[in-house]
Amino acid sequence: MIKLNYKNVDAQVIGQENGLNLAEEFECYKDKIVHIIADLNKRKDKNGQWLQWMNLGYNEETLWYVKEYAAMVKGRFDNILVLGIGGSALGGIAVTEALLKPYWNLLSDEQRDGMPRIFFLDNIDPDTINGLFEVLDLKKTLVNVITKSGSTAETMSQFMIVKDKLEKELGENYRYNVVATTDKKTGILRQIAEQEGYKTFVVPDDVGGRFSVFSAVGLLPFALVGLDIDEMVNGIKDMDLALKNTDIHNNIAAQNALIHYLMDTKKGKNLSVMMPYSSRLKYVSDWYVQLWAESLGKNKDKDGNDVNIGPTPIKALGATDQHSQIQLYNEGPNNKVINFIRVENFDSTLEIPNIFEYTGIGYLGGKTINQLINAEADSTRVALSDYNRPTVTITLERVDSYNVAQLLYMLEVQTAIAGELYNIDTFNQPGVEQAKNYTYALMGRKGYEESAQTLQSKMAMV
Ligand code: PA5
Repeated sequence: MIKLNYKNVDAQVIGQENGLNLAEEFECYKDKIVHIIADLNKRKDKNGQWLQWMNLGYNEETLWYVKEYAAMVKGRFDNILVLGIGGSALGGIAVTEALLKPYWNLLSDEQRDGMPRIFFLDNIDPDTINGLFEVLDLKKTLVNVITKSGSTAETMSQFMIVKDKLEKELGENYRYNVVATTDKKTGILRQIAEQEGYKTFVVPDDVGGRFSVFSAVGLLPFALVGLDIDEMVNGIKDMDLALKNTDIHNNIAAQNALIHYLMDTKKGKNLSVMMPYSSRLKYVSDWYVQLWAESLGKNKDKDGNDVNIGPTPIKALGATDQHSQIQLYNEGPNNKVINFIRVENFDSTLEIPNIFEYTGIGYLGGKTINQLINAEADSTRVALSDYNRPTVTITLERVDSYNVAQLLYMLEVQTAIAGELYNIDTFNQPGVEQAKNYTYALMGRKGYEESAQTLQSKMAMV
């Protein structure tokens, strides 16, 4: 199981001004946490609560269909191209970057055990998209278009371009190069898929984009490139069981949620930095940023009061950002909680050869890069503590399917608990919808004429 070390947020370590009296706080919030966890688990099966993501570890049917399809298309495609944005892409990117061999797309077929390369198009920069077409042979590419709503402008515009190209190259048979993941009944992509006869997978009801990584949204691409989705599900189930524990002393998601909430509301530390000491976990930070920002950044609480709250998430990478951001974190405003992710065992060991005797670098010889990266994680934690800066450390035994799934699921539950502490709706995103609607208006979508007029006059002013 992954572990959480929160000693460095305690007032005994970083002082009363910046630290929390954790024993007292845990005692004070004990009953509230019992209530929150019990309530989330009670509500998770009810329609409209947007908590179905808590059941994804138990969805044997999806697992079966995903594996069946992946087995059926195995060996037929050189590339997987995922089209999606936000919650429809970030989990896929985070997990494939973490679990596939590094530089996967540059490896030979043999080195990839015959599994396809994988590309995610999660933006609409024309140069990048055109650049990708130069690299990919679309005829040998399986396109997985993922959008829950079925109408997101970025994803659907990419899909329209790709479909047109595929059809020109392959004629009617192009449909076998497309698999759509979308709502089971509604949305334009669902209509197109039915009309055109695409293979489809479902984004389940009551699972928001940012909580969808372990639905078919993520599981399908993972299975297509040969990742062990059974082990991921085992990781989620074990973590889910652990996080059903209503005792704050034994629930790491509740502990980290409460720490962040109290640091924000009592100590004015409303920035949350996610800093894995592992390049493979770099994109877990991107995923976390969306999860934390879209879930907790809200202007109203559940009682309708104006609150404008939400801790701002920041991504960082250890050790790289020690040479970029740490100066600010040590000496700048003391307004952050830094989450380190530390990996105990890397898949490989890399020894530093004993080839120079200079005092300045000679000490490195004979050590391993493994020792160095973890020494840097530990020393940065201690240095931050010297400056009375709060940090927590999440430790993974290794970067594998089981542990990465546990990590992501733990952070999802942590976010849900934090949302309850802030008393806000964790699962809506009106701020995202507003910008989406303005884009529709600006691009001339029917029905958005009034918004277009308002927008034109506002654009002249801002
Ligand atoms: O988390 C969310 O709900 C959003 O980030 C969505 O995933 C994103 O806007 C894409 O939406 P859709 O899947 O409908 O294309």
